[in-house]
Amino acid sequence: MSDLKYIRVEWDGEIAVVTVDRQDKLNALNADVLRELVEVIESLGADAGVRAVILTGAGERAFVAGADIGELARLDAVAAVRVSRDGQRVFDVIERLPKPVVAAVGGVALGGGLELALACHLRVAATRARFGLPEVGLGLMPGFGGTVRLSRLIGLGRAIELTLTGEPIDAGRARDIGLVSAVVEPATLLAEAKALAKRITRHGPLAVRTALESIYRGLDTTSADAQDFESVLFGLLVSTQDAREGMRAFLEKRKPEFRGV
Ligand code: COA
Repeated sequence: MSDLKYIRVEWDGEIAVVTVDRQDKLNALNADVLRELVEVIESLGADAGVRAVILTGAGERAFVAGADIGELARLDAVAAVRVSRDGQRVFDVIERLPKPVVAAVGGVALGGGLELALACHLRVAATRARFGLPEVGLGLMPGFGGTVRLSRLIGLGRAIELTLTGEPIDAGRARDIGLVSAVVEPATLLAEAKALAKRITRHGPLAVRTALESIYRGLDTTSADAQDFESVLFGLLVSTQDAREGMRAFLEKRKPEFRGV
């Protein structure tokens, strides 16, 4: 990895904790932050020693307060399309990572910050977290996948309400509508996000990545095609040693030992 200015990576065993650290701007996503983020995520995706990723924001106030409004204000239409496409590609890399990515949201997740959290597979929030899409208040709209991912996660009506009012919701409401899995005290946020990741990584990595692949590929196609694909993946998994081990361990009433093959 090249020298990183805005992204920190720390390891806790097989879990990598990625922190967006641009605290003076509430971790807003400028072009450099996005470039570093995708570089880090791609390298963690390729690192066999990493089983899960936690994505969080530095400081107590923000997960990420959105795309950098100073940069957006300088764009013409053509450049804005490019920025939107580039951001979408970064978030697609996160969503398509073959290992679970958990967003640990400790403060505001606004605009591109909420869109970033949506690109993660799971979200855990601190009690003080806030979620919103304030873009319409700037005369803009979400441009990093938010108009697509939010409605898939929380339903069309709620997504339209959040997008058109631009008003943030608190962590409790986010949990109630399925936007986050859990709301925890700020001091335990990272530990809870890691605990969630570990509930996943104790299972076979091939099973986890293949289930993720089936879920996300299924969103982009018809139900019939998605189920065809699911069957093929299911068949592939059954032929792995991990699946043999998992089923044998159940029948022998012991814990499985998965090796990722
Ligand atoms: N882009 C660029 N800079 C941002 C930013 C963003 N999305 N969000 C916050 N900042 C900067 C502020 O400009 C300020 O910088 P400065 O100290 O150099 O003036 C710094 O971060 C702190 O933010 P500030 O607004 O002073 O903090 P606050 O506690 O009063 O308000 C927010 C916090 C999150 C409510 C407010 O910063 C905000 O509304 N941010 C924009 C959210 C948004 O619209 N996101 C979608 C963008 S498309």
